Order: sequence, then structure tokens, then C-alpha cells
Amino acid sequence: MERRQFLKTSALTAGVLALSNKRAWATSADSRIEIFLDESKGQISPNLYGQFTEHIGGVIYDGVWVGEKSKIRNQFGIRAELIDRLKEIQVPIMRWPGGCFADSYDWKDGIGPVSERPVRTNFWEVDGDAARLHEKGPQIFEPNTFGTNEFLRFCKLAGAEPYLAANLRSLPALSFDHWVEYCNSPAGSTTLAKMRAEAGFPDPFNVKFWGIGNESWGCGGNFAPEEYASEFRRFTTWIPNFGVDLQLIAAGPNGNDIDWTHRFFDQIFTGHAYHNASFTGWSIHHYASNLSRGKTKDWVLGKGDALKFDPVDWYELLRECDRVERIIGDQWAVMGQYDPQHHIKLVVDEYGPWYREGTELDPTHIFGQQVTVRDALATALTLDAFNRNAEKVSVATCAQLVNNINALFLCHEDRFFSTPNFHVFKMYAAHQGGQSLRTEFSAPDVQYDRDGKPASFWGLNGSASRKGNVVTLTAVNPDLTQPSQAQVAIRGAAIARSSGTALANADMHAHNTFENPDAVKTAPLDSSVSGGVLNVSIPPASVIKLEITLS
Ligand code: AHR
Repeated sequence: MERRQFLKTSALTAGVLALSNKRAWATSADSRIEIFLDESKGQISPNLYGQFTEHIGGVIYDGVWVGEKSKIRNQFGIRAELIDRLKEIQVPIMRWPGGCFADSYDWKDGIGPVSERPVRTNFWEVDGDAARLHEKGPQIFEPNTFGTNEFLRFCKLAGAEPYLAANLRSLPALSFDHWVEYCNSPAGSTTLAKMRAEAGFPDPFNVKFWGIGNESWGCGGNFAPEEYASEFRRFTTWIPNFGVDLQLIAAGPNGNDIDWTHRFFDQIFTGHAYHNASFTGWSIHHYASNLSRGKTKDWVLGKGDALKFDPVDWYELLRECDRVERIIGDQWAVMGQYDPQHHIKLVVDEYGPWYREGTELDPTHIFGQQVTVRDALATALTLDAFNRNAEKVSVATCAQLVNNINALFLCHEDRFFSTPNFHVFKMYAAHQGGQSLRTEFSAPDVQYDRDGKPASFWGLNGSASRKGNVVTLTAVNPDLTQPSQAQVAIRGAAIARSSGTALANADMHAHNTFENPDAVKTAPLDSSVSGGVLNVSIPPASVIKLEITLS
């Protein structure tokens, strides 16, 4: 339906008439948002706003780690500007060391005196023709300068909870126990606690979140679900907890593979039952990596370009990212068949648009890509989906923090800038810890041409949460050309005032660069209260936030 036809033909009309005694909707509006204060869907875990850092390309070396002796401003070798920005977005949790890297990583290589740490081949050196071997950089040969102590210090400096991924493919379960012991055993207790103290960390790190392998159907061991379930039992049946409320996260499916989930949960919960209250997370990954519109399933050929794209690619990318809500619903339904109380929640620990190579800022940045305003909308609609499913998703970490797939920051040596994704995380931080509220968006779909055939995508969507007497509403207008003239009504309280922020750009390819680091940034967004509703013009191709104070 076209936007201008909307008022005449929408099914919403009936709803508007029904509501007309309570609120007067202005006829100038073409979209409506209703927030129901008395319909909370649970608390939005701050941990939905986490980040992921893996030893790939320029993420750790160049991105996070610059070294103590660097001229680049640093704290204990960690890039200080990154720490500052992470505090701005109130980063709650960070995942490390992978990803696929985790299942080839021996944590013992990364502790002890740095000069004695071994150099190993990085998992991501696996290019078939060994074309990069001459580089000899840390992206190919891992120097282990950045290990457990350095990552946990990084988390502490940024104010984040650590989430470590254990190696299930190539290390025994006892080594995992020892990693927990190294991190969490009391000061002066074990040999590993003494090694930790020698490195300058006498007190335990008290790491709570542990992933048990990663993508165990693929790079993490190529297991069948039953085999992985058996390994998962073995790795998690006895872990020293040292009084820490451990949260164990199992490796979920490839995409939305329901079969993996059924067969894993069947093995865990049926027959010889598994009882472990610490098993609280089921990991899912969702990359928007195929933009071929059904032309190919090839991993490389199916990818789109980060910077060169048409309007159809804009909408298709958003549609691909939007599938995350379907995956959340489908996986939740299967898990509920085995765990009806839903003790185990979803952990979306990798997500984002994944484009073909070519826009990385430096050749060493494997999987590095530019981030446009399109990606900001993709990230925002994903975060909105998490907020709307606050009772189902307990943790989410964006892949990945810096110099990688859906980065918040791009940097090389002494140059650094924030991508549009950083601004989205900064805007959305207001949701952390709020009560997720049922919110209805009514807007005409956006119409576009998909290879000569008409296609459509929703015209407005978002989420709302409440903390005290402030309601935070975030929304995405995907329409490349049309603003959305929206009215916002809050059911259950009157609106006193509101303040708004928008991230928008008239150029769909807009992105930040070293030369122009503020090409995409936020700006204030006007709104006005009249007749009990809030009126706001939501710009085309935008992410917006309204902070609405209730009277
Ligand atoms: O984020 C890059 C890679 O994508 C991760 O290492 C892996 O888990 C996924 O396939």
C-alpha cells in the first residue's frame, strides 16, 4: 500500500475509530505508535547491548591492543579511545576470544610473562593458497601478547562483564576446568591463582559467562547434535564454581536449523536426564550474508557490497537482518518443548550484515568492512527485536566491536573513528534495564522494485521501555525517501514532555571515514505534545529515539 493511500484504506481505520473517544488522532499523521504501560514483557537485560571481540585480522591487534610502549594513548596497552567510547555506550558484556578462533585457542598460551608466550598459527590464516603467510603479522601468526589477563583488564576498564568462549574442539574438558580455576580460584589458593597473582591479579576475576564451544556444527568440531550434546555434558558436568553463579552457554544452530535444536535438547533432556542449573544460554548467530535475492547460496558470491548498493539492496539487507525475530521465535518454541519453564534463554552472540571483502581499511583487517547508515538501521532494528523479546533473549553481542563485520569503530594505528553503529548503541543504551512495553506500530509498508517485481517491507517498527516515569521509544523508518508523520500515544499515563534524537542521512551510502569522522552522526529531533499525543516527523532512512516523560 502506498503511504498516501494509507488513511483511506488501512485496517487501522477501525482501530482509530475505536480509540477516538480516548484520544484524538490528527488526520495529518500517516503512522501511529501506541505504547501500553501496563503490558510489560519483562526487563530488558543490559546484556543485550554487548560486544564481541575475536582474534581475527585487526580486531585485537590494531583495534583493541596497541601495546604499553605505543605512542597511541593507551591504558596498560589497550587503546584508550576505545575504552572511553565503550563507557559512553555503557557496554555491559564483551565476548572473547572467538568465534571460530576459540576452538583452536589454548588459553595457557596467553598467560605468564609475555616474552615467554608462544607464537601460534591463527585459525583465520586458513586461506587455501597460503597467500598471506609472508605477512607474518599477528593476524596470521598469533603472538599471544593479548591473553586472558589483558582481556579481563580490558573488560574491567570498560565496565563490562566478561564472556569467555571455551575450546571444545581441540582441548580436553580438564583444560576448561583449569581456565575457570585460573580466572576464579581465590587469592593464594591454587597454583593457577598464584600464577595469576604473579601477573598482577591476586584477586579472582569471577568470570560468570562461559560459552561451551562455538558453532559446534561447523568450525567448532563439525559435530552432529547428539555428539555435541555428549561433549557438552562432559564439559559442564563438574566445573569448579568458587561461589560464582556460572552461566553456561551451549552452541546453538547454524542459522535457524530447528533440527540441531531438537536433537541437542532431546539428548540433554530425554532419557538419561541432565540437571545443571548453570546451563542458562542457547547461542544463536544471525548474519545477513546473502543478498543475492535467491540467485545463489554460495557463501562468497551471495554477499553484497558494504558501499556499492542500490535501493533494492538497502531493503533486502534490512529484511535479512529482520529475520532474527523469526529465529528467536522458532528457537524459543522448540526449546520450550523440552524446557517448559524456559530456564534456558537465547544468547544472540553474533549478528550483523556481512559483506564481501574490499572495504576494509587495511589489508590486515580480515573481515573488515565499512559501515553505512544502512547498517545503523540494521543494527537498530535488531536491537529493537531483542527489546521486544526481552523475556526470551538474555545476552547479545554484536559481531564485532572494531575493524570487523558490523563494527562500532574502525581504526588503524593512530587513526580512529566511530561508525554509525556506535551512535545506535549510544542512543539505545537508555533501554538497558528498562521494562519492555508492548508497543504497536501502524504504518503503511514501503514499496520497492525487486528485480522487476513489486516487493514491500514494513514502514515503521521499533520498541519501547520504561524506567521510572520515563518511557524510551526507539524506531526505524526504512523508507529511503518519505518521512513518517507519526503520532505516539501512551496508554495508561499522560505525556508531560519529550526529547528526541535522530540518526539520519539523505545519502544511503553515507559513512564515516578518517577524513570525515562525523559524516553520519546524531542530531536533535523535534516533537510536540498536543491533544494528549506526541507528534513527530521521523526522517526518511532514520533511527530515532524519543525519551518521553510521563506526568
Ligand atoms: O564473526 C566471524 C565468524 O563468524 C566467527 O568466528 C564465527 O563464529 C562465525 O562463523
